[in-house]
Amino acid sequence: MQVRKAVIPVAGLGTRFLPATKAIPKEMLTIVDRPTIQYIVEEAVASGIEQVIFITSEGKSAIENHFDYNFQLDHLLKEKRKTVLGEELSHISNLIDIISVRQKKPLGLGHAICTAKNVVGDEPFMVLLGDDLVHSHKPCARQMIDLFEEVGESIVAVQRVPLKDTHQYGIVEGDSEAAYPRTHKVSRMIEKPIPGASDSDLAIIGRYILMPEIFEILENAPPGHGGEIQLTDSLQVLCKRRAMYAYEFDGQRFDAGDKLGYLKANIAFGLSHSALGGPLREYIKQMASTL
Ligand code: UTP
Repeated sequence: MQVRKAVIPVAGLGTRFLPATKAIPKEMLTIVDRPTIQYIVEEAVASGIEQVIFITSEGKSAIENHFDYNFQLDHLLKEKRKTVLGEELSHISNLIDIISVRQKKPLGLGHAICTAKNVVGDEPFMVLLGDDLVHSHKPCARQMIDLFEEVGESIVAVQRVPLKDTHQYGIVEGDSEAAYPRTHKVSRMIEKPIPGASDSDLAIIGRYILMPEIFEILENAPPGHGGEIQLTDSLQVLCKRRAMYAYEFDGQRFDAGDKLGYLKANIAFGLSHSALGGPLREYIKQMASTL
């Protein structure tokens, strides 16, 4: 069983980032020098994924256009002999095979993933959220695929969060799995638990490898927290049917759909940028001394 396909849901409304996201998809907001979504697609490519499936909605066509071939622009850059820029654009449009599926109503992440059922078919697949960035040496998706090749079951990426913040996340409970480092066997999952409902600090982030059985569970899922079809609720059903693992990935995660998370991501990715990292570090030092 190989993980060949990645579903990237980008159909959300992005209300936390209004007014910036009134006319621009949050996934197209720039982190240093390219849109958030490009980092995510590049992570999928670097992890060996062969096909990306975007779950889109009205107003998100800029995302598809970004990865498309732009004949006029290509022609113009050739005419002006701007070869390096031209090559960069052709790199983006040749990154990977991309398919788009529409989610007609924003009924939640679980519903968004379910719309990919026919394109994914009967095989395990990766999910990368369109606004979740991971800064790491080895791509987070690759770390998870390596573990999948050992365990052959669903995996959710997790990070430890302060207990006072667990109500903002899907939370995983389970025992650590001695055979595999950083890995826990999942026993229960709860979406945004109220204080005291769980003493686990393992929070789900936007990377999953799922067995195709999840589709049938999602199709029959009732609305959960916030009236949306929550992926976590269906994962809870799946983890009762067959083994599921939580993996504490190596890296730093940023919620780029949140204003503060977005600013932090720009700083972290900026500091590790080959040309901009040095000058940015100097600027931050200078700023810090005046605070
Ligand atoms: P978010 O929780 O960030 O949803 O979803 P959102 O609605 O875009 O953001 P806010 O809370 O209003 O600011 C996580 C991911 O799931 C996608 C989003 O596009 C994002 O990548 N999503 C969410 C969908 O594709 N469809 C949905 O119905 C909900």
